[in-house]
Amino acid sequence: MATTEAKLRKEIQNPVSHSGSKVTIVGAGQVGMVVAFSIITQNIASELTLLGVTEDKLKGEMMDLQHGLAFLNNIKITAGTDYALSAGSKLCILTAGARQREGESRLDLVQRNADIFKGVIPKLVQHSPDTILLVVSNPVDLLTYVAWKLSGLPKERVIGSGTNVDSSRFRFLLSERFNVAPVSIHGWIIGEHGDSSVPVWSGVNVAGVRLRDLYPAAGTPADVEGWNDIHRQVVQSAYEIIRLKGYTSWAIGLSVSMLAVAILKNTRNVFAVSTFVQGTHGIEHPVFLSVPCVLGENGIINIIRQTLTEDELDQLQKSAATLNKIQSNLIF
Ligand code: NAI
Ligand code: LAC
Repeated sequence: MATTEAKLRKEIQNPVSHSGSKVTIVGAGQVGMVVAFSIITQNIASELTLLGVTEDKLKGEMMDLQHGLAFLNNIKITAGTDYALSAGSKLCILTAGARQREGESRLDLVQRNADIFKGVIPKLVQHSPDTILLVVSNPVDLLTYVAWKLSGLPKERVIGSGTNVDSSRFRFLLSERFNVAPVSIHGWIIGEHGDSSVPVWSGVNVAGVRLRDLYPAAGTPADVEGWNDIHRQVVQSAYEIIRLKGYTSWAIGLSVSMLAVAILKNTRNVFAVSTFVQGTHGIEHPVFLSVPCVLGENGIINIIRQTLTEDELDQLQKSAATLNKIQSNLIF
C-alpha cells in the first residue's frame, strides 16, 4: 500500500544529499544569528548549519528560522553540537567566543578565544577538508592567524572579516558629511580591526573626485575641518555601541554576509579583509591584517596594491609589529 507521500510524489531519482553551497556558522550568538539571517534572506546558500555548545538554544534558533521558510527560498537548516552536521561545508564562519565587556578591548579576548578555536577548528576541517574559514570572533586578526595555524589550510582559504565593517562605518560617516549615499563613497580602512586601524585618507573619493585634492590637509595633523574625527568615531563606534546595547551585531552581520556572497557566488568583489600580509607594504612580520582583497570561490584571489602615503605605511607597519608581539606570546 503506497504511503500518502508516495501518492503525491512519483520517484524519478534520489535527491542529492549535499549541494555545493553549504555554510556552517559556529556560534549561534548575537553575531552568528544576524549572519545566519542575512545569508538566508540573500538566498546564497543551499544549506545552513548552526553549531554551538547549547543544544536547546541551537534547536530554538533552528526552528525559528525554519518557520520563516514559507516566506523565502528553501534552504536546509540544521543545528546542534555534533560537528558531523557541518560535513561538506563550502564555507565555515566562526563567530564563537567571548565578546568584549564594557571597557575591554578586542585584544583582551585573545587567549580565551584562542582556547575555544583549539577545540573547534580541527573538527571543522576534519569534516570539511576543502572548506574556507571566515573568522569573525575577536580579536579577529590574531584569531585568523590562530585558525590558519590550527587548520593547516592554505592561507588564501583562511580569511578574517577584518576592517570590512570599519570601512562601512567610515563610509557611513563620510556619507553623512557629504550627503551622498554610503555605497557612492569610496573609502578604505585597512590594518587591524580595532584600535590601530588605518584610514586611507589619500584614497577617499566620490566619483573619482579625491577629498585630498579638495582639501590636502584632510586626515593630517594640520586638518582643521575635523575629518580626523571621523576616524576617531570609527574606532570608538564599537565601544559606544557596546556601552549602549551590550554588543554589536547588525553591521558586522551584513558585512559578513556580503563576504559570503562573494565566496559562494565567485563574484570577485573587493573587500578589506584580514589576510596574510607578510611581504605586502613592507610588512616583515607573519601576521594577518586587512588590505583590499579580491574574493572568489577559492577565497582570496588577489591583494590590491593600494598606493599608500609614507604615514599610512608607517601606521600599518606599527600595527603589524604590535600584533606580532601578542601573537608570539599566544599559546594554542
Ligand atoms: P555571543 O556571546 O552573543 O555569542 C557567542 C556564541 O559563541 C554563544 O552562543 C556561545 O554559546 C558560543 N560559543 C562559546 N564557546 C563555544 C564553543 N567552544 N563552540 C561553539 N560555540 C561556542 O557573542 P557575539 O556578540 O555574538 O560575539 C561573538 C564574537 O564575535 C565575539 O568574539 C565578538 O567580539 C566578535 N565580534 C566580532 C566582530 C568583528 O567585526 N570581527 C563584530 C562583533 C563581534
Ligand atoms: C565591532 C566588534 C566589536 O563591531 O569588533 O567592531
